[in-house]
Amino acid sequence: MNLYEASTERYDTMAYRRCGRSGLLLPAISLGLWHNFGGSSDFENARAMLRRSFDLGITHFDLANNYGPPAGSAEETFGRILKLDLGHYRDEIVVSTKAGYLMWPGPYGEWGSRKYLIASLNQSLKRMGLDYVDIFYSHRPDVHTPMEETMSALDFAVRSGKALYAGISNYGVEQTHEALRLLRELGTPCLIHQPKYSIFQRGPEEGLLDLLRSEGVGSIAFSPLAQGLLTDRYRNGIGKDSRAAQASFLKPAEVHERRLEVLALAEIAAARGQSLAQMAVAWVLREGGVTSAVTGASHVRQIEENVAALRNLEFSSEELQHIDSILGKAAAQP
Ligand SMILES: NC(=O)c1ccc[n+]([C@@H]2O[C@H](COP(=O)([O-])OP(=O)(O)OC[C@H]3O[C@@H](n4cnc5c(N)ncnc54)[C@H](OP(=O)(O)O)[C@@H]3O)[C@@H](O)[C@H]2O)c1
Repeated sequence: MNLYEASTERYDTMAYRRCGRSGLLLPAISLGLWHNFGGSSDFENARAMLRRSFDLGITHFDLANNYGPPAGSAEETFGRILKLDLGHYRDEIVVSTKAGYLMWPGPYGEWGSRKYLIASLNQSLKRMGLDYVDIFYSHRPDVHTPMEETMSALDFAVRSGKALYAGISNYGVEQTHEALRLLRELGTPCLIHQPKYSIFQRGPEEGLLDLLRSEGVGSIAFSPLAQGLLTDRYRNGIGKDSRAAQASFLKPAEVHERRLEVLALAEIAAARGQSLAQMAVAWVLREGGVTSAVTGASHVRQIEENVAALRNLEFSSEELQHIDSILGKAAAQP
C-alpha cells in the first residue's frame, strides 16, 4: 500500500509559535476534531481535511475522549487516517487529547479522579493506535476531587510516557493559578491552557491570559470562530448542512441574535481585505493574544480560507476599538 506523500512545501507558509516557556512550537492554526470527524460523519471528507491541513503546515490536531458522535469515534477516525495516510509523519505531528466530560457510565466515567483520567487516556491511546499523545489535558476542573489528585494524574501520564506534556482546559483564573503551582511542584510544568476565546467570548481577558503569560504557559483558543458565527456561514440563513441546523451547542437563536454584529464585523474584515472568518482567526492571534487558534471545519475550503488569515495578523488600534464598539457591553461578558 502506498502511504500518503505530504506536500514538500508544507512548512513554507505556516507560522510556528513557542508554547509558553517550553521547547514546543505549535502552528498558529491548529485543527480540532470535535465536529465532523465522528463515526456519523463522511470518512473521506474527514480524511481530506486532515491531509490538506497537514499539507498546509497544520501539525497540531486537537481531540478529546468524547469527540464524535458517538463519543470516542473521532479518535478512531483519527487513528484510521494515521494508519492510512499520516502515520509515517508521527514525529512531525502533535496530538492532544483530553478527559473530563462524561465518557462512560458509572462513578468513574467523568470529572477529575486519577481512576478516570488514566483509564481514559489508556482508552484514547488504543482508539488512536498510538503509544503516546503529545498533550494530555484535564478537560474541565472538578471541585469535588482534590486538585492535587487531578494534577498528579497528569504528572503520572507524563512520567509513564503516555503523554509528553500536560495541559488544562476550562479552568478559571484561581483554579489555573493552583493547577500551575501544583504541576510545577510535581516537576511537570503545565504546557498549555485551552480556554474558549473569540471576538464574542472575552472571558480570558479578565486575568487568565495575563496569568498564563506571566507564568510562561502557552494558550490555545478554542472556538475562535464562535462555532461558525464569526464567518459568512449564516449570511443567507441557516443552511441545512451547517452546525446550527444540527442538534448541537450552536443554537439557531444565537445566529439570529448575533446577526447585526456579524454584518458590522464583516465590514471591518472586508476593509482589511479579509473574510470575517480570517479576521476572527487573526484577532485571537494578534499581538497580546494566544499561542494558537484551534479551529474546526466541515470542508477543506474552510481550512484553506482560515490558514490564509496568517497573511495579516496586524490590527490598528482603531480597528480593535471599532470591533469592541460593535460588541458594546457583550465584549466584557465571559
Ligand atoms: N476544551 C474544550 O472544552 C473545547 C470545547 C469546544 C471545542 N474545543 C476544541 O476546539 C476545536 C474548534 O472548535 P469549534 O469547531 O467550535 O471551532 P470554530 O473554529 O469556532 O468553529 C468551527 C466551525 O465554523 C465553521 N467554519 C470554519 N471555518 C469556516 C469558514 N472559513 N467559513 C465558514 N464557516 C467556517 C464550520 O461550521 P460548519 O460545520 O457549520 O460548516 C466549522 O465546523 C474543536 O474541534 C475542539 O478541538 C475544545
